[in-house]
Amino acid sequence: MGFETQADFGTPEAQGAPVTLKVDGQPVTVPAGTSILRAAALQGCSIPKLCATDNIESFGSCRLCLVEVEGRTGYPASCTTPVAEGMVVRTQTEKLKQLRRGVMELYISDHPLDCLTCPANGDCELQSQAGAVGLRDVRYGYDGATNMGQAKDVSNPYFDFDPSKCIVCSRCVRACDEVQGTFALTIEGRGFDSKVSPGGFENFLGSECVSCGACVQACPTATLTEKKVVEIGTPDRSVVTTCAYCGVGCTFRAEMRGEELVRMVPWKDGKANRGHSCVKGRFAWGYAQHQDRILNPMIRESIDQPWREVSWEEAIAHTASEFRRIQAQYGTRSVGGITSSRCTNEETFLVQKMIRQGFGNNNVDTCARVCHSPTGYGLKTTFGTSAGTQDFDSVMQSDVILVIGANPTDGHPVFASRMKQRLRQDAKLIVVDPRRTDLVRSPHIEAAHHLPLRPGTNVAMLTALAHVIVTEKLYDEAFIRERCDWDEFQDWADFVSEPARSPEAIEPLTGVAAAEVRGAARLYATGGNGAIYYGLGVTEHSQGSSTVMAIANLAMATGNIGREGVGVNPLRGQNNVQGACDMGSFPHEYSGYRHVSDEGARALFETAWGVALDPEPGLRIPNMLDAATEGSFKGLFVQGEDILQSDPNTHHVAAGLAAMECVVVQDLFLNETANYAHVFLPGSTFLEKDGTFTNAERRIQRVRKVMSPLNGFADWEIVQLVANALGLGWDYAHPSDIMDEIAALTPSFAGVNYARLDTDGSLQWPVTGDAPDGSPIMHIDGFVRGRGKFVVTDYVPTDEKTGPRFPLLLTTGRTLSQYNVGAQTRRTDNVLWHEEDLLEIHPSDAENRGLKDGDWVSLKSRAGETTLRAKVTERVAPGVVYTTFHHPDTQANVITTDFSDWATNCPEYKVTAVQVAASNGPSAWQEEYAEQARMSRRIAGVIDAEAAE
Ligand code: SF4
Ligand code: SF4
Ligand code: SF4
Ligand code: FES
Repeated sequence: MGFETQADFGTPEAQGAPVTLKVDGQPVTVPAGTSILRAAALQGCSIPKLCATDNIESFGSCRLCLVEVEGRTGYPASCTTPVAEGMVVRTQTEKLKQLRRGVMELYISDHPLDCLTCPANGDCELQSQAGAVGLRDVRYGYDGATNMGQAKDVSNPYFDFDPSKCIVCSRCVRACDEVQGTFALTIEGRGFDSKVSPGGFENFLGSECVSCGACVQACPTATLTEKKVVEIGTPDRSVVTTCAYCGVGCTFRAEMRGEELVRMVPWKDGKANRGHSCVKGRFAWGYAQHQDRILNPMIRESIDQPWREVSWEEAIAHTASEFRRIQAQYGTRSVGGITSSRCTNEETFLVQKMIRQGFGNNNVDTCARVCHSPTGYGLKTTFGTSAGTQDFDSVMQSDVILVIGANPTDGHPVFASRMKQRLRQDAKLIVVDPRRTDLVRSPHIEAAHHLPLRPGTNVAMLTALAHVIVTEKLYDEAFIRERCDWDEFQDWADFVSEPARSPEAIEPLTGVAAAEVRGAARLYATGGNGAIYYGLGVTEHSQGSSTVMAIANLAMATGNIGREGVGVNPLRGQNNVQGACDMGSFPHEYSGYRHVSDEGARALFETAWGVALDPEPGLRIPNMLDAATEGSFKGLFVQGEDILQSDPNTHHVAAGLAAMECVVVQDLFLNETANYAHVFLPGSTFLEKDGTFTNAERRIQRVRKVMSPLNGFADWEIVQLVANALGLGWDYAHPSDIMDEIAALTPSFAGVNYARLDTDGSLQWPVTGDAPDGSPIMHIDGFVRGRGKFVVTDYVPTDEKTGPRFPLLLTTGRTLSQYNVGAQTRRTDNVLWHEEDLLEIHPSDAENRGLKDGDWVSLKSRAGETTLRAKVTERVAPGVVYTTFHHPDTQANVITTDFSDWATNCPEYKVTAVQVAASNGPSAWQEEYAEQARMSRRIAGVIDAEAAE
């Protein structure tokens, strides 16, 4: 296995008309606007450089890349000089060599000569460029004043900053500004005293830095170095793979030394991330080797017993016999399973296949139930496809970006950086969110309109925006007549035009000034290419599906569909939530969203799988739990989900799980759901298996095995073992075989196979005969369903109402450093940034309750009560409180209710009526729960003794 490398062309790609020049006698044709440095690199001629790299604009500070241009005097820097037609460039004359050596001499005279012990030895551009210019001597000596000997900043848990090695090329500063968009670094001082500073803060950890790693990647010396490189040494092999955290789907080069992962370096050819990363994918992978990982299968007769480690053979045989026993006793439909949005497409496909083929029912569901199921319903109804319409690159063509119910800088940080690049150019921003998220105002970005609506009023707000667009005739009549059903449009237009839907009429409901709503509507409708991005703040409501359809209505009415720069874009949460939905994880659909009652589709699967399939949709997660408490549902296979922590109304989930006779959990760690399990099958990490993930752009990308599974098997192999113990006779030798079956059975995946993924890097479904290279943009010539469908979306207030007992509205979200239930990120140094879940509360609400920042508070709803600490902030409006759900000891979902979306049962996480009061610390049930969880995690012969103390 080798080391995957990527060329650095020195400066970014340009887009102009072709220009031909000669470099060292060889002709080269490049787009106008290209630098001489890049043109030379494209032609295969490498000009020495230090301050230039191809993901940031050139700066021209190091003077190493000097060239001669015929007809021009002097020696221009090739990184800042654009090409011209007919230009003749020389890059290797004696004079140039002499000048470059002189420049390099000056750098080296102020640089420690400790190459042999330096962590960047062999991976340092200063070192390689000194060799490239032929430096043999430093005439100035090392006796004068230098910048060496400055103290290191080791405050960041993932990388060190050693200023004595800095050449002040400012690549780090520019990467932070241009790529990441955080503007955390500056160059302080002038001339010889210039130095990089984390924005005047004492150190990196205490600064604005969000640890994305862009500066570390950009640094050509050992000044910014990953701690793991210092600790382990320089990597000697690498594998290109996909991040397993969020739905952005960043591509990384996993760099290894032997079997040890040294670092994850973002891959420039990754079409989702274009070489960028966030703190989670870049650094927070230590959980993969964490001591809490369970590596041996375990079983127990009942959940109050300690776990007993058993062989894989025993665990698999026990699992199969338990499911068969339960079905014989309670009926075919008494068991089911939950697929994982964290696992690969292939693994997810196998779990739903095992349930349909092996259990003989459709009782399969996935965590998308609790996040983006309304997206599936709403976009399928209006456009005909259950997915977003654009690729991420599309945002660079947007003129107006409307972000509703999403916090991309925390939830989808790498895409947020791209969006911010476009916003720093000249695109306009509208934010619809109860909180003042970072996007509303951040360096060099300010939203044109922030509509801080009351949680639960999305539909009223979107209808008011539509009211302005229709009544002011800002809609795109030609587009609607050509692409949509005109009669349905008219019905919808009549509905939204009613005075009761005007911004003025809904102002008392939403709390947002009507003038601001009118301004936002006009901007979206008339500002050029309008793109809508949304998240769980749209879907996790009792009107989640209506909200998605209201968004689709707006896009169709303004003609903002079917080309670059526009569209409706759900920002998918988990790495493979799109894939889990595509793979047939819902109880009513096979892969490719074909209903189980569709006889043609069912016959296809019956023929392939050799069994008769159940034509009735199965149970959704909440229905499985209801059926369990009622006594008709007894066995559950859960792969890679922690429903006890992630699903609403924790007490209800616990009661359902406790009522089952066999709960099988397949996971990396003994998660909270495993407290109620009878069989635990250790899972494998994304580093330990092959497969594919599908990101929020419908982009199918390869996950490649980087190291052997610590538990002995990849997850797909474990499912195959269980399936075969159930008598299904599967014989997949590799996940590529599973993908071949998916492609054969799923029209939108027809052209997908591993060979193509390896050649093309990624493919965006549908990949069909009509679109053999995939579909970056959907609905270009027409909607998948034929004509776009306008749906009347009447605002129906949620039943979850504030009142004297529960006067505040709780809404939830997540932070940059933690991920969902935190099972992975809590087992990394990311806890430094978020040790506990906090309750954000407005100063006026805090004052009314006598609360100060950091006080313990009780948070109570009609579903339950928990205790956490308060953070007093104006980020939330008066009357609204906000928290995250990353820590199991907080159990934020004890508070959330079981109200859900009318169409899909997606829980109403974003609106819960609560009361907040001063408290003395964790409540009695939290302590009881912690004790119960501790007892439930006993493993015979391992931590029995500890539990007995
Ligand atoms: S820290 Fe690295 S990238 Fe930044 S100025 Fe110094 S040498 Fe250049
Ligand atoms: S890690 Fe990212 S945010 Fe922090 S200073 Fe470097 S580029 Fe900026
Ligand atoms: S943005 Fe998402 S996919 Fe990309 S590195 Fe971060 S967590 Fe991973
Ligand atoms: S690379 Fe051109 S001036 Fe530094």
